[in-house]
Amino acid sequence: MLIGQLSDPHVRAHGVLYQGVVDSNQALIEAIDHLLRIDKRPDLVLVTGDLVDEGRPEEYAVARALLARLPMPYLVIPGNHDHRENFRAAFQDHGYLPAEGPLHYCVDDYAVRFIGLDSCVPTLHHGHIDADGLAWLDGVLESNPVKPTVVMLHHPPFVCGIPYMDEYRYIDPAPLAAVLQRYSNIELVLCGHVHRSMLRRWAGTVVCACPSTVTEIDLQLLPNALPSSHAGPRGCMLHLWDEHLGMLSHTSLVGESPGPYPFA
Ligand SMILES: [Fe+2]
Repeated sequence: MLIGQLSDPHVRAHGVLYQGVVDSNQALIEAIDHLLRIDKRPDLVLVTGDLVDEGRPEEYAVARALLARLPMPYLVIPGNHDHRENFRAAFQDHGYLPAEGPLHYCVDDYAVRFIGLDSCVPTLHHGHIDADGLAWLDGVLESNPVKPTVVMLHHPPFVCGIPYMDEYRYIDPAPLAAVLQRYSNIELVLCGHVHRSMLRRWAGTVVCACPSTVTEIDLQLLPNALPSSHAGPRGCMLHLWDEHLGMLSHTSLVGESPGPYPFA
């Protein structure tokens, strides 16, 4: 099974630039087309939050229209720039989303099980999942502790070292870790939010943050670093699941480079 991942497209209303400088809608088109040009197509695409920038219905209408370029099914989770109820309304035909409450879900229709978690705290930018959400997660994991499982949440549950992203980090990840580390079938925890590729061993599994389709947050580690980003490199991920080989994850950057060249 091939699983595509797009993250943090920050779609805006028609004619509005992201951060006043970047055409995030065009960038999402380019990321989707990039993903579709890979010679094997994903069976499913995951979109790991911040689908839109300000949570507005008109932004979701544009996001839906752009995501319609995907010929395969896709699953969505919300990010801190999404608005829970507008998000739910925009994707009301996505039957896996619950009718009320946090947007936690489990999709069991594929060779890999997909658990979507809503790590958003309405009106705030940091991440957290409350005790009810963790109890739900524990119950779902317990119902099938064997099937290979991918867990998605927008906020990486760790301190990343970039001060202006850690300000909006997942708060108190230990209870989430305590649930996940009880299960050995969690192949990956997939995140967005940090607009860069990151990898960490955590809670007995691997946490992987996907690049954004629109901007890359700059890699600065000093505590007084000021927030900054660039309009690229932008990217997406492709996760290859094979029942014998396990999971293998590729990051693919959007855009042209000189080539192709033969190599030997
Ligand atoms: Fe984002």
